Amino acid sequence: MSAQVRAVAGSGVPLLAVEGLAKVYPTGKKALGGVDVVIDRPQLVAVIGSSGAGKSTFIRCINRLVEPTAGSVRLNGEDIVALDRKGLRAARRRIGMIFQEYNLVERLSVMQNLLSGRLGYVGLFAALRYRFPPEDIQAAFALLDRVGLDGYHDQRADALSGGQRQRVGIARALMQRPELLLLDEPTASLDPKTSRQIMRLVRELVAERQTPAIINIHDVALARAHADRIIGMKDGLIVFDAEASALTDAALTRIYGEEDWSRPQDADDEPAPAAAAPGSLSLIS
Ligand SMILES: Nc1ncnc2c1ncn2[C@@H]1O[C@H](COP(=O)(O)OP(=O)(O)O)[C@@H](O)[C@H]1O
Ligand SMILES: [Mg+2]
Repeated sequence: MSAQVRAVAGSGVPLLAVEGLAKVYPTGKKALGGVDVVIDRPQLVAVIGSSGAGKSTFIRCINRLVEPTAGSVRLNGEDIVALDRKGLRAARRRIGMIFQEYNLVERLSVMQNLLSGRLGYVGLFAALRYRFPPEDIQAAFALLDRVGLDGYHDQRADALSGGQRQRVGIARALMQRPELLLLDEPTASLDPKTSRQIMRLVRELVAERQTPAIINIHDVALARAHADRIIGMKDGLIVFDAEASALTDAALTRIYGEEDWSRPQDADDEPAPAAAAPGSLSLIS
């Protein structure tokens, strides 16, 4: 646990401070128009908004999977946007990322997937060759138990159900002992009951591990039921930011416009060009 870094949080530096974060894609599309968010305690923050509102761009600019055009992202005081490649690699190990498509290595066992998470974002080859210290293996077993996958360590990832795969994704992200969790539509490929179970697990983990999480989610009811705080985005801007109980019908209309937000939206967002890769469907079980 990075006790040193966490101690900073106690001295008044917010866990996360995003300021003036903006993104213009090479196409000229202004996806993020200058966003400010401060998270000063471990809480579950849900980001809602119509397809194309900028939710994924926002979350991906935080760990620079998408390179921001302007602004700063301070994680326990350190500006991630200002880091060079080496600094960024180190900073990314402090941020756990969980995706809709799970991003597991299909042919590897659950345990191998978890241990590869300990290395940050390194390749498969390194993950296979690396000899992991016993405390990492112990931590992996404990996490598997915690996410409800006790006994699954030898199963191949491609033999698991969607819900089980997402539990592996969550456990893998937690192997890094992150200071922040980012989740981009983690339940979008799951059925409603499994989605609720995954949301409950995430909420419990935020509290247990005192780790803040930002979760993009298009399901308003799920966000309302589980998040501490809700951020509403529209056209690349934040138009709502308050505790979940303050999300009134008027606020929903501000976020979604005249769209009927009371009905579930399509299962997936309008795909960003990069997400439209053929074969991505095969990951949905
Ligand atoms: N790689 C990209 N290149 C160009 N435009 C993009 C790219 N990714 C996303 N966009 C556009 O930026 C806007 C915000 O997209 P996104 O952040 O994916 O929104 P959301 O996650 O809320 O659906 C959309 O208009 C989308 O089409
Ligand atoms: Mg998205």
